[in-house]
Amino acid sequence: MVARMSDGLVAGYICMMMVLDEGSVLNVAVHPQLRRKGIGKMMIQAALAEFHSRGASFVALEVRPTNKAALSIYEGFGFVVTGRRKAYYENGEDAVLMEYDIKRLDEDKHAL
Ligand SMILES: CC(C)(COP(=O)(O)OP(=O)(O)OC[C@H]1O[C@@H](n2cnc3c(N)ncnc32)[C@H](O)[C@@H]1OP(=O)(O)O)[C@@H](O)C(=O)NCCC(=O)NCCS
Repeated sequence: MVARMSDGLVAGYICMMMVLDEGSVLNVAVHPQLRRKGIGKMMIQAALAEFHSRGASFVALEVRPTNKAALSIYEGFGFVVTGRRKAYYENGEDAVLMEYDIKRLDEDKHAL
């Protein structure tokens, strides 16, 4: 999924995959000059809604423990840490595993 500015410029993208009832966020990135404007949040919200509409039960992802921006945005949505993969990245850094229970989308809607 791609987020575009009104002039067509690509502001960001989110790469998603779904296998059976498991959704995965493989990557998400926003143009460095357009960060902290809510674009990442908007794309993740749209991705969760898309997974929900396709019948996913949960959404999983991996993130570097040093990636404070990504950890913060995922935690804000209610993703929880479920584990760690040792030396997952090419520089030897571990990956933090996070999951989002798609039922939260319905619960949050009811809470509004
Ligand atoms: C992670 C990323 C996609 C966030 O996109 P963004 O459009 O800047 O995020 P948003 O503006 O929607 O931010 C939403 C919330 O996330 C958190 N957040 C975002 N960037 C943050 C940062 N640098 N430090 C701390 N918290 C941050 C904040 O809680 C923020 O809310 P606030 O601005 O009201 O405080 C962006 O920083 C990015 O492209 N990073 C490089 C690629 C990357 O690391 N992708 C993740 C791979 S797992």
